[in-house]
Amino acid sequence: MDTNATLYKDLSKVLVTREEIAQAVRAMGQRITQDYAGKDPVMICILKGASVFFTDLIREVDLPVTTEFMAISSYGGGTKSTGIVKIVKDLDRDISGRDVLIVEDIVDSGRTLAHLSQVLATRRAQSIEIVTLLDKPARRVVPLEVKYSCFNIPDAFVVGYGLDYDEKYRNLPDIGILAPKIYGGEE
Ligand code: IMP
Ligand code: MG
Repeated sequence: MDTNATLYKDLSKVLVTREEIAQAVRAMGQRITQDYAGKDPVMICILKGASVFFTDLIREVDLPVTTEFMAISSYGGGTKSTGIVKIVKDLDRDISGRDVLIVEDIVDSGRTLAHLSQVLATRRAQSIEIVTLLDKPARRVVPLEVKYSCFNIPDAFVVGYGLDYDEKYRNLPDIGILAPKIYGGEE
């Protein structure tokens, strides 16, 4: 690993390497390509966390997909979900009749996506499924059906490959557990 020391020194460990990510993203792209054969799904990137995953994933999908970007806020600057979900930037186009794939970085409590799925369901999409890079099943407080997930991870706060802590670490190529001393947690 060519560790970018400035960022890596704040991790307690690397959880998923860039090689493991690339392999999983390729497999996910193939699975979506098969499942949506003959269709032209709209893939929605949930900003900002999913941006890195999204740009890699869409290039592994061999279908005439269209892309949309949506920004929602569910977290303040900390490591815990507030439960408050607000649409900060909405879709540019109508999704009625479309097969929708919501692409998210991580599902934690499930609140963000449960809310978002409900909002999008009112727009008469043909189908809606969730694609997530990471899932922390142990943290779920709201029931949510996640059809496509690349990695299940333990209950730890992770950063990198798009995921942030206080807007930082998104540019880490690997996914790591943030050292609790960085956010004032227990070691
Ligand atoms: P949920 O509403 O609790 O499922 O929260 C989902 C959102 O919380 C994700 O889109 C992330 O922005 C953020 N989040 C949850 N866990 C982590 C983590 O371990 N690292 C970084 N962001 C996280
Ligand atoms: Mg996010």
